[in-house]
Amino acid sequence: MDKHLQSTLHEDRIFPPSDDFSARARIKSRKELDALRAKAEADHEGFWAGLARKELDWQTDFTQTLDESHAPHYQWFSDGKLNISYNCLDRHLAAHGDKTALIFEGEQGDTRHISYRELHREVCLFANGLKSLGVAAGDRVILYMPMTPEAVIAMQACARIGATHSVVFGGFSAESLKDRIENAGAKVVITADGGHRGGKVVALKAATDDALSRGCESLEKVVVLKRAGNAVTLQDDRDVWWHDLIEGQDETCEPLWVDAEHPLFLLYTSGSTGKPKGVQHASAGYLLNAITTMKWVFDIRHDDIFWCTADVGWITGHTYVAYGPLAVGATQIIYEGAPSVPDMGRFWKVCQDHKATIFYTAPTAIRALMKAGDDIPANYDLSSLRLLGSVGEPINPEAWMWYHRVIGGERCPIVDTWWQTETGAHMIAPIPGAVTTKPGSCTLPLPGIAIDIVDPDGQPISEPNQGGVLVIKKPWPSMIRTVWGDDQRYYDTYWGMFDGKYYVAGDNARRDEDGYYWIMGRIDDVLNISGHRLGTMEVESALVAHPQVAEAAVVGRPHAIKGESIFAFVVLKGERSADGIDEDLTRELRDWVAQQIGPIAKPDDIRYADNLPKTRSGKIMRRLLRTIAAGEEITQDTSTLENEAILQQLQGKT
Ligand code: WT7
Repeated sequence: MDKHLQSTLHEDRIFPPSDDFSARARIKSRKELDALRAKAEADHEGFWAGLARKELDWQTDFTQTLDESHAPHYQWFSDGKLNISYNCLDRHLAAHGDKTALIFEGEQGDTRHISYRELHREVCLFANGLKSLGVAAGDRVILYMPMTPEAVIAMQACARIGATHSVVFGGFSAESLKDRIENAGAKVVITADGGHRGGKVVALKAATDDALSRGCESLEKVVVLKRAGNAVTLQDDRDVWWHDLIEGQDETCEPLWVDAEHPLFLLYTSGSTGKPKGVQHASAGYLLNAITTMKWVFDIRHDDIFWCTADVGWITGHTYVAYGPLAVGATQIIYEGAPSVPDMGRFWKVCQDHKATIFYTAPTAIRALMKAGDDIPANYDLSSLRLLGSVGEPINPEAWMWYHRVIGGERCPIVDTWWQTETGAHMIAPIPGAVTTKPGSCTLPLPGIAIDIVDPDGQPISEPNQGGVLVIKKPWPSMIRTVWGDDQRYYDTYWGMFDGKYYVAGDNARRDEDGYYWIMGRIDDVLNISGHRLGTMEVESALVAHPQVAEAAVVGRPHAIKGESIFAFVVLKGERSADGIDEDLTRELRDWVAQQIGPIAKPDDIRYADNLPKTRSGKIMRRLLRTIAAGEEITQDTSTLENEAILQQLQGKT
């Protein structure tokens, strides 16, 4: 069997930054970038210590940069003290208090502009409200909220008083909410009557009541924001309206100075077992990398209007909505709803109306918007945009090219940012004024981030284009500190594979002859065809490059001779045949893949569907597809699926 993962994707298009863009950028050339990287390599700790003192306001300076004594629970700047909300709000007030911090647009079209001074006031009022409920430093507070400014206000208020927040995405069920409240031992839930999403009201308070009726011993209080105006019942001794809670509170709230390592938040990811996994982040290191990446990767400037479309329920909505943009004093857009309301032009309308300059979204959204056709974005003025970003999964070159051409007007660099909930901030990404991009590659590791690719024995793979396991070799400030309440799981999941030597991200990747990284897929998803090991990404990319294909997911299906054969699930741009079978097109697609990649990657089976099974964050659930491809009964928990109804179709039953 191949020791290395075989790579088959060939991509020769390159896009150097324009002179215009580079001239105005924070980092203007590859030379400047390489110098920064060399500085970090020469003195890893000194590099981060210098940035920590430059970018953060400390109440007490630190004397130790990196503490490895509890490795792999690394600690950064641990005897320093600061407050995260102070760093996001207070420090901007003197010079930029009247600058707009948030431009909010609700799904129904209501808008609000909130300045830094107003945001500071709202955060103080709410922080005092939380204190009046008995919330103190170290207490856990769950947020289960719509994507409105109050979600950011609540997160900042927790940070201000040292409470540890955990945001549960509003699309999750009562049962998932209950699991997370219990795992965190949370004292307070902050929710809303409802939020607008997809043209409907999501009944958040009702789901909260349902969750609490199932257990949640630790829970004392529920704060309810009035947002959608739907009917709710408040339990006298337990529930309080947001507006009643802040009524009469003091408009100032002294920030609580906490240790650099103080737990800022927990964020649950599903992991491979059912039990939710609470990724715990610390304070100073987390905010430091939120800031450095806002500056390096998004090249953020004072006059930018930044829009990251992620919900605060995901890490992207933490680092690039609730914390990063505020810490650098930027203006950002927050949109409450779905991209499809009232039609697939909504994102472009929001960009146009609020003059977005930087737009950051996920490949799954890009492909859905691309499927809707070029004439939709053509109706909007997108000339304010200067930079585009992508996050969450590998962006296939076809979607990249569409994004570049139709949305970016061939003018905007695209930053394809590789990172994870656990890394806290971008790890591999282009610096837009300095790095030539290649569609489908997240390009080069950021300064101070020690990425490598190793074989199953942990030996670095130096030959270009050989796929292997992506690892991070040195600790970095915004890294995960532990899995909440389960240090063993932290070790086993991220460090066990190479005995604690490297952080293991769980992805396979290759590095090309220019040192560019190409993510090939999750380690668990590798296809094993007649002894050749292939990543899912490249086969999917080849399929999506066909003019009729909008989306594709491939998995291995047990095969008597080959070990595994490739089973592809395909979503077409136009109509599909009713039974999900189309022999002519299947023949054409098989030949197409054979031509693009080689006969080895030819799917044996292709099934057509209207959609793919995705998690609420838009990731394809390949585990589920493997079960379907093998013709087995689905026994996995499917409640976290965005679209449960699609399962019948994928099984060929409709
Ligand atoms: C996994 C992390 C990072 C915030 C959102 C997802 C995949 C993420 C990319 C990218 C290729 C990517 C990886 C990673 N991923 N960004 N630019 N190119 N793959 O966070 O849910 O923690 O998922 O998403 O597989 O390990 P997450």
